Amino acid sequence: MAEQVATNITWHEGTVTREERTGCLKQTGGTVWFTGLSASGKSTIAVALEQVLIQRGHAAYRLDGDNIRMGLNKNLGFSAEDRAENIRRIGEVSKLFADSGMLCLSSFISPYTADRDAARAVHDEAGVPFIECYVEVDLAIAEERDPKGLYKKARAGEIKGFTGIDDPYEAPENAELVVNTGEQSLEACVGAVLAEMEARGMLG
Ligand code: ADX
Repeated sequence: MAEQVATNITWHEGTVTREERTGCLKQTGGTVWFTGLSASGKSTIAVALEQVLIQRGHAAYRLDGDNIRMGLNKNLGFSAEDRAENIRRIGEVSKLFADSGMLCLSSFISPYTADRDAARAVHDEAGVPFIECYVEVDLAIAEERDPKGLYKKARAGEIKGFTGIDDPYEAPENAELVVNTGEQSLEACVGAVLAEMEARGMLG
């Protein structure tokens, strides 16, 4: 957990409530947090889901591991400490987007349970809906897909500390939703997430 460094700061409360803000958007807002191995299909599902949501008239925005690591988190690598900071920042950013009324689709390997739980806690404390979606896939299938050739490099020892190879992935045990991209079609996965979002009142 990051420490509060700045002193002499005071929270400045606004006068617009979350309900008033999200009422303008005709949706409640919330975060869908996709976690899973590299090449599990997190970003593919998020991209397809974003398309469906926008076509249905919802405001949605994606935050994606590779993309965020080219901007906000460009100073972070893949040590356990850096991954924790990566997820801490994105947990906070997701909460801000979702609190603004946006449907925030966050796709990060987020391999460690404690970091994912911290992201959830930030949402819970703010009363912002949060769905953890475990994008499950057998390592062998992810490795066969290998769209960026990274598993091959990791197996050859050219990348150290690659998730699933020589860095752990702690599978969620209490995710709100589990989809398996080795067994389900993309449409089925998107449908399952949409149903969960609906059930949680994010879309109404
Ligand atoms: S996380 O572990 O900190 O959550 P994040 O989702 O931001 O990871 O970034 C993962 C992406 O970075 C992968 O999809 C892959 O393209 C790339 N990558 C590069 N090196 C590694 C590594 N050592 N482990 C996992 N992914 C890596």
